[in-house]
Amino acid sequence: MRMETKNFMTPLRISLCFILLFLTTTSAQAPVYSYNSCMNSTSISPTYKTNVKSLLSWITNDSSISKGFNYTTISSNNGGDNDGYGDAVYGLYSCRYDITGYFCQFCLTTAVNEISRLCPDSVTAILWYDVCILRYSNQSFHGKVSLSPTWNVTGPRKIKNSTETKRIEDAMEGLITKATIETKQFWAVEEFDWGDNETLYGWVQCDRDLPSDECRKCLNAMLEIFPQCCGTKVQWAVFAPTCGMRMDDEKFYQKSDDNGTSTSRKLIISFSVLGSVALLCFSVYCFLYRKRVRKDEMMLDEETLNGDLPTIPLITILNSTNNFSKASKLGEGGFGPVYKGILPDGRQIAVKRLSQFSGQGSEEFRNEVMFIAKLQHRNLVRLLACCLQEKEKILVYEYMSNASLDSHLFDDEKKKQLDWKLRLRIIHGIARGILYLHEDSRLRVIHRDLKPSNVLLDDEMNAKISDFGLARAFEIGQNQANTKRVMGTYGYMAPEYAMEGLFSVKSDVFSFGVLVLEIITGNKNSGFHLLEHGQSLLLYAWNIWCAGKCLELMDLALVKSFIASEVEKCIHIALLCVQQDEADRPTISTVVLMLGSDTIPLPKPNHPAFSVGRMTLNEASTSGSSKNLSINDVTVSTMLPR
Ligand SMILES: *[C@@H]1O[C@H](CO)[C@@H](O)[C@H](O)[C@H]1NC(C)=O
Ligand SMILES: *[C@@H]1O[C@H](CO)[C@@H](O)[C@H](O)[C@H]1NC(C)=O
Ligand SMILES: *[C@@H]1O[C@H](CO)[C@@H](O)[C@H](O)[C@H]1NC(C)=O
Ligand SMILES: *[C@@H]1O[C@H](CO)[C@@H](O)[C@H](O)[C@H]1NC(C)=O
Ligand SMILES: *[C@@H]1O[C@H](CO)[C@@H](O)[C@H](O)[C@H]1NC(C)=O
Ligand SMILES: *[C@@H]1O[C@H](CO)[C@@H](O)[C@H](O)[C@H]1NC(C)=O
Ligand SMILES: *[C@@H]1O[C@H](CO)[C@@H](O)[C@H](O)[C@H]1NC(C)=O
Repeated sequence: MRMETKNFMTPLRISLCFILLFLTTTSAQAPVYSYNSCMNSTSISPTYKTNVKSLLSWITNDSSISKGFNYTTISSNNGGDNDGYGDAVYGLYSCRYDITGYFCQFCLTTAVNEISRLCPDSVTAILWYDVCILRYSNQSFHGKVSLSPTWNVTGPRKIKNSTETKRIEDAMEGLITKATIETKQFWAVEEFDWGDNETLYGWVQCDRDLPSDECRKCLNAMLEIFPQCCGTKVQWAVFAPTCGMRMDDEKFYQKSDDNGTSTSRKLIISFSVLGSVALLCFSVYCFLYRKRVRKDEMMLDEETLNGDLPTIPLITILNSTNNFSKASKLGEGGFGPVYKGILPDGRQIAVKRLSQFSGQGSEEFRNEVMFIAKLQHRNLVRLLACCLQEKEKILVYEYMSNASLDSHLFDDEKKKQLDWKLRLRIIHGIARGILYLHEDSRLRVIHRDLKPSNVLLDDEMNAKISDFGLARAFEIGQNQANTKRVMGTYGYMAPEYAMEGLFSVKSDVFSFGVLVLEIITGNKNSGFHLLEHGQSLLLYAWNIWCAGKCLELMDLALVKSFIASEVEKCIHIALLCVQQDEADRPTISTVVLMLGSDTIPLPKPNHPAFSVGRMTLNEASTSGSSKNLSINDVTVSTMLPR
């Protein structure tokens, strides 16, 4: 018995999806499905409809969905045999073999949600997605080959010379043998060295319930179609309900072929669960290692072995953020816009779409991202996954429901909710986060852009630092000429960094000091000169401190909740952190000690660094900023305390 099909989607819609499958443009695309085949009927019994519904909920509810394949029969046997046979629904779902776990589930959930829209009132339906297929019918099809309908898609790239068609056929034949005879795994992938530095990637797969000779039959039928539909193309795919094959010049699957070198195998992103969030890695779009990473680039080899960062397919990100819609935009970070995304299961994510820049080495960048993912601490925003598809560089972070510190601190209404206890907890949290970056993580990480907008607050108002590791990742991706580019934000940058591009752990300590003063005063350092005081927050704080009137600095919103000794201590520590000479500034571990102890005597701070007016560094050249320095210098000298 065979699936019969009468009704196909309109070519227009289909071709839209084809583009998604095969073109490698970077513009936002939202693939919904690849193809479908429905058979309408005017005479569907209500029982049958109910059974279809049960089938669909069985799929979404099947606990073994992560394995990627199962089938079932739903028939109403509530006592009577009457409804029995004719109303039985046979259903099957299958994910591409390399797609397991969460993303398999995602694909199938999408299919389940769409099938009733695409194939309403259908006795039989087949829905193909890029990485999964969903079928049901009133006729049993388990274990049987189905070759109807078949469909094909091709990409724009043509083969160079007609003898290549034969080469491709031979290559695919090898894959069929591999899948059905050698490994008997019903699927196979392989990288083909195509000459001229070119690698082609092949994939074949059958439904796992087919006997292997049936699988072979199905795949051979696809191979026969290939020369007619796709023989002149490098990128193509042919599908039937029970099998499919595809070739592309980009690695579109996630697993290595069995001959992969140990290096490439090491790098294959595993499907392991990352922490509590079971984002599993795969992607048609986010291929991982197009080329083998050379040994000398494997700076983080050891670490990569211990756990991999999942990649998330661009399609998922586009869906979850409504194609990077304005409505889902959370803000503009130092490295690009950030969007809020909602995964199909309701989990919220923050999607950082890194802006593009030239000279980016993808492998190095990937290494950096892997490295960032290793940095895990309760006061750091956690990197959950990434998507490095083509020119998109997207980082997926845990979502912080209370946004950034600046949105609370510099808002007249919201700041009232930040009582002293909470502000102190935030200060402690930030300090611990920096301590981890500087000293507790195995590799010393200098943040370089600490500021209130890079401190996020979770639902319990715990402070979590974001954007760590990115300055380094970006720098590594830069051309040599640009490596000295400063990436901080004026107002928070230590003078040696702002002026000379020299950064060290002490420049982070400086930024921390500014942050603490801002948390206490509720005022921006960088906007401070606009206020009546006509001086930078740092100098103002210094002057007041010298005059012994520390508490005058305090945000009025703290009047009811402050504890004088604690506020004074924090101001004192902050002033130690913002001292002009970096050698005078304490390390962050000392800061954490001082914050946590009431007995450690605090040294007397020296004069703070002048602070540079507000400006984003990307616009300001180093020479431009020294001009600023002289202006501020004047201010400094006039403001020197007695
Ligand atoms: C099948 O159903 C869809 C939706 O109701 C309808 O648009 C289409 O014309 C039907 N096709 C046939 C062949 O009846
Ligand atoms: C999923 O299964 C649980 C129990 O196993 C059941 O309570 C729930 O209703 C099912 N959900 C659906 C959509 O069928
Ligand atoms: C497949 O579905 C059946 C029926 O719901 C279920 O009993 C079984 O656990 C599922 N998983 C596998 C791997 O067969
Ligand atoms: C399945 O449905 C079609 C169309 O309604 C019908 O012609 C066919 O007899 C049904 N097959 C079975 C086995 O019920
Ligand atoms: C096609 O390419 C093959 C090698 O890739 C070469 O040997 C052959 O001469 C080419 N044929 C034509 C007609 O260019
Ligand atoms: C192959 O790649 C190397 C390095 O990427 C390049 O120098 C060489 O020209 C390429 N050869 C061909 C035939 O494209
Ligand atoms: C390939 O697909 C095109 C467009 O969908 C279709 O017109 C053509 O008949 C298909 N070719 C084969 C051999 O199935």
